[in-house]
Amino acid sequence: MPLAPLVSMHDGHRIPQLGYGLYKVPADDAERLALAAVAAGYRHLDTATLYGNEEGVGRAVRRAPVPRDELFVTTKVWNDDHGFDETLRAFDASMGRLGLDVLDLYLIHWPVPSQDRYVDTWRALIRLRDEGRVRSIGVSNFHPHHIERLVDETGVAPVIDQVELHPWLPQHAVRTFDTERGILTEAWSPLARGRVLGDPTLDRLAAKHGRTPAQIVLRWHVQLGNVVIPKASSPERIRENLDVFGFALDADDLGAIAALETGHRTGRDPDLD
Ligand SMILES: NC(=O)c1ccc[n+]([C@@H]2O[C@H](COP(=O)([O-])OP(=O)(O)OC[C@H]3O[C@@H](n4cnc5c(N)ncnc54)[C@H](OP(=O)(O)O)[C@@H]3O)[C@@H](O)[C@H]2O)c1
Repeated sequence: MPLAPLVSMHDGHRIPQLGYGLYKVPADDAERLALAAVAAGYRHLDTATLYGNEEGVGRAVRRAPVPRDELFVTTKVWNDDHGFDETLRAFDASMGRLGLDVLDLYLIHWPVPSQDRYVDTWRALIRLRDEGRVRSIGVSNFHPHHIERLVDETGVAPVIDQVELHPWLPQHAVRTFDTERGILTEAWSPLARGRVLGDPTLDRLAAKHGRTPAQIVLRWHVQLGNVVIPKASSPERIRENLDVFGFALDADDLGAIAALETGHRTGRDPDLD
């Protein structure tokens, strides 16, 4: 069974490079599909308070035939819970739903600059890390200028920035900024919610490598150095999406995928909220 490689974060902890994303996985399906992912070899599960399926993810972690310390669980504080005390309460609520003692990674889901509270939220994450309740802390949907403000005001940089990233939106500026500071870039909607998969370039590369278009895109993420968390709704697709470590794209292939860039976002620009 293939496992995704572990990638080091700047705090010394490691994260499996490919995980299973659970956005829009219904609460009733979360345990079954997360267990299918673990059976397929996934060791990294990405949920959020917003997704409404933390209970199912927690049950899967507790029932998985894999030791807890071999599984990596991420959840996220939602926009309504920004602020120091609010975030500490939201974390307790998430941990109650997950039923876990320690979380691997806690993220601020969106900066929501209009509320101007993300620095206080970040101070709460630092507190939780210092208390040992979460091993690693990071952000999601943060532009470089939001991260610079966190570092300026607290001296603590996130280990990861989880952003929308796929062939239409390769996020050059974010990846360059993150690389320079030792922050990992994690790709959400790595398949552009499945919409990029109909592109003829991907069909051509899939035929060339004897793979599927989804595997071509996920392999591109891996070679870029992204952490990547595809979502799928069937055990077959879940297995297919992890099976990207046995082949490589060449420079021509990478150039052909680079040419797909349009700048199209499937989600919102974080500065507009
Ligand atoms: N931080 C954030 O703000 C944020 C925002 C969005 C997402 N995320 C995270 O990122 C994860 C992934 O993003 P996403 O769920 O938006 O989109 P995605 O992973 O880019 O795409 C999922 C879509 O692609 C389809 N798909 C998956 N594997 C496939 C395959 N092998 N062949 C054909 N189609 C395939 C799925 O279909 P089926 O489901 O029908 O199989 C689903 O419709 C989320 O689950 C969540 O954990 C984070």
